[in-house]
Amino acid sequence: MLPLWGAIQLESGDADAPLPYWAFAWGGGLAVAHYLREHPEAVTGRRVFDLASGSGLVAIAAMNAGASTVTAADIDPFAAVAIGLNARANGHRITVLARDVLDEAPPDADVVLAGDCWYEAGLADRVLPWLQRVRAAGIDVLVGDPGRRYLPAASLVEIATYEVRTTTELEDLAHKTGHVYTVRVP
Ligand SMILES: C[S@@+](CC[C@H](N)C(=O)[O-])C[C@H]1O[C@@H](n2cnc3c(N)ncnc32)[C@H](O)[C@@H]1O
Repeated sequence: MLPLWGAIQLESGDADAPLPYWAFAWGGGLAVAHYLREHPEAVTGRRVFDLASGSGLVAIAAMNAGASTVTAADIDPFAAVAIGLNARANGHRITVLARDVLDEAPPDADVVLAGDCWYEAGLADRVLPWLQRVRAAGIDVLVGDPGRRYLPAASLVEIATYEVRTTTELEDLAHKTGHVYTVRVP
């Protein structure tokens, strides 16, 4: 990850450019993707919103599972480009929002997906309240997580577990246990 990050800083002239999270398939997203392959009915024919989309892995898995539309959101402009390119490479069209939606009302969607959002405190503090508002609006929520430090376990209900292959460029181990949860209605 570090050589790529250096290249982005150089190319963009931005020493504060975010880490290239979009260049990897994270354990949480992989768990959601596994779940959608096993349970396509969770999204088939439904409008899906993928929060913190990164590479677009989860968004693409939703399209593969038959979602009617997928909108993906990520604050990193490089991620926004990567999602579009990865979607196209997989034969899909995905609407991309390159902005922070966590202070906005729940999206116009039937299902919200979120892979690996609890890796840092600032984001973690904002994701759960937003997902709870989404649930309260009657929208289904599926999140994936490989045991990150800030996971709000008491507010989640586990529905599936998968062994996922990540990379030691990111993680301490090349294999992780990824969990899929729904969010309790507050
Ligand atoms: C660990 S990556 C997970 C990517 C993908 N969901 C996966 O599982 O492979 C977290 C992503 O969250 C994005 N992110 C961070 N804060 C965000 C926010 N407020 N709104 C949307 N995306 C955000 C980052 O840019 C990054 O792409």
